[in-house]
Formats: sequence, structure tokens, C-alpha cells
Amino acid sequence: MRYRPADGHGLPHDPFKAIVAPRPIGWISTVDEEGRANLAPYSFFNAVADRPPVVMYSTTGRKLGLDERKDSLANIRRTGEFVVNLTSWDLREQMNATSAHLPHGEDEFLAAGLEKAPSVEVAPPRVAAAPAALECRLLQEVALPCWDETGENVVVFGEVVHIHIRDDMIVDGRFDLTRSRPLARCGYQDYAVVERLFQMRRPGQGGGR
Ligand SMILES: Cc1cc2nc3c(=O)[nH]c(=O)nc-3n(C[C@H](O)[C@H](O)[C@H](O)COP(=O)(O)O)c2cc1C
Repeated sequence: MRYRPADGHGLPHDPFKAIVAPRPIGWISTVDEEGRANLAPYSFFNAVADRPPVVMYSTTGRKLGLDERKDSLANIRRTGEFVVNLTSWDLREQMNATSAHLPHGEDEFLAAGLEKAPSVEVAPPRVAAAPAALECRLLQEVALPCWDETGENVVVFGEVVHIHIRDDMIVDGRFDLTRSRPLARCGYQDYAVVERLFQMRRPGQGGGR
């Protein structure tokens, strides 16, 4: 089959997010102007550079039912700061719980029973149990086209200014994904979990970076 996205796919559900999958999940914590914490998962998320390290995430649409724009971007616009917490198999239920569309100012850490840990260079707290967390400063926002009149599609780029890694995630000097078992988002209600790694060397390359 083939189709133009603007014309529709004719399938029961949109396959786009199942095609571009699996996507890592950035579990993004922010604070509002009163210092109230917010936490939400975003799978339009990735690392886009490493020297300096830069990540991006994209906020799309609006809060279902509440018909409001999403809190994470509003907070980042006010403070210029966010933290990307990385997920793990053990935290899957809590991660999902924090995607609930709570009214502005309600703390998803509390709603999901998650302990906070302080950040070093930015105000938003971290998820204490996350295998790793990236403290970020806003670099740039890019507005995207949006078919949903009351929503917005915006990509946020942040420079990573401080990195936290749980000590038990380091094995033989490497961040061990088979310990953190990160979640990834696929299409529909599907997720993937990293449980097995394999290695390949690029042609002409000795050791891996
Ligand atoms: C695994 C997962 C991935 C998600 N990815 C995105 C995403 O990439 N962009 C987005 O706008 N919403 C995404 N959502 C929905 C947001 O998490 C949800 O709208 C959340 O309530 C936004 O919270 P906020 O208003 O506190 O920012 C995702 C939800 C889940 C469960």
C-alpha cells in the first residue's frame, strides 16, 4: 500500500508511529514559575549531537479532554530548563501514569509515587530511580506545521549541562543497557524493551566510542 498522509491511510489506526519505531522515551521533568514540578513521557525524543551533547523532544497536539496545551513546554518557556530522565522496565507503570493529563500545577511525581532527587545545575528535580538523567538548558524551539487548530507541534532542543548515572548501571566502565532495560515506544499501545545487545565495528574502526 501507499498513501499521502494528508489524504488518510484507510487503516483502522495510523501506522506512522509504528513505522518510525522503536523510539526512545524522554521522561521530562520541569518546574513552573512557582517551583511546582511536572513530569511527562515524550517519545518524539532523541539525542542529536554529542559534543556538546544535545537532545530534542517534540510536543504535539494538546491535552486530551482538558483541551489545553501541554505543561512541559509552557514550563520550559518560563524557565529555560528541563531534565530528561531515562526510563527502565522497572519504572514502566510509573512512566505511563505520568502521561495522564493532569491540570497545570499538579505534580505527576506525587501522582505516580515517584521520589524526587535534586538536580545540580537546573531547578527541575530528577526521578531518583531513573537509570540516568540529563540536566538540560533550552537551546532553541522550532515550530512545526500543526493540523490540529487548538494544539501546537514544537520541537525543543536542549544542551545537556549535567549528566547523572546510577552507580549500579555502570559495568566494566560502560553504561549497561541490559541493566537499565530502557523502554521504547512503538506504534499503537506497543512498547519495546532493550534486553539484548550485539556489536558491530564500522569498517576501518578499531575500538568503539
Ligand atoms: C510513552 C509515551 C510517549 C509519549 N510521547 C509524546 C510525544 O512525543 N509528544 C507529545 O506531545 N506527547 C507524548 N505523549 C503524551 C504526553 O506524555 C502527555 O500528553 C502528557 O500528559 C503531557 O504532559 P505535560 O502537559 O505535563 O507536558 C506520550 C505519552 C506516552 C505514554
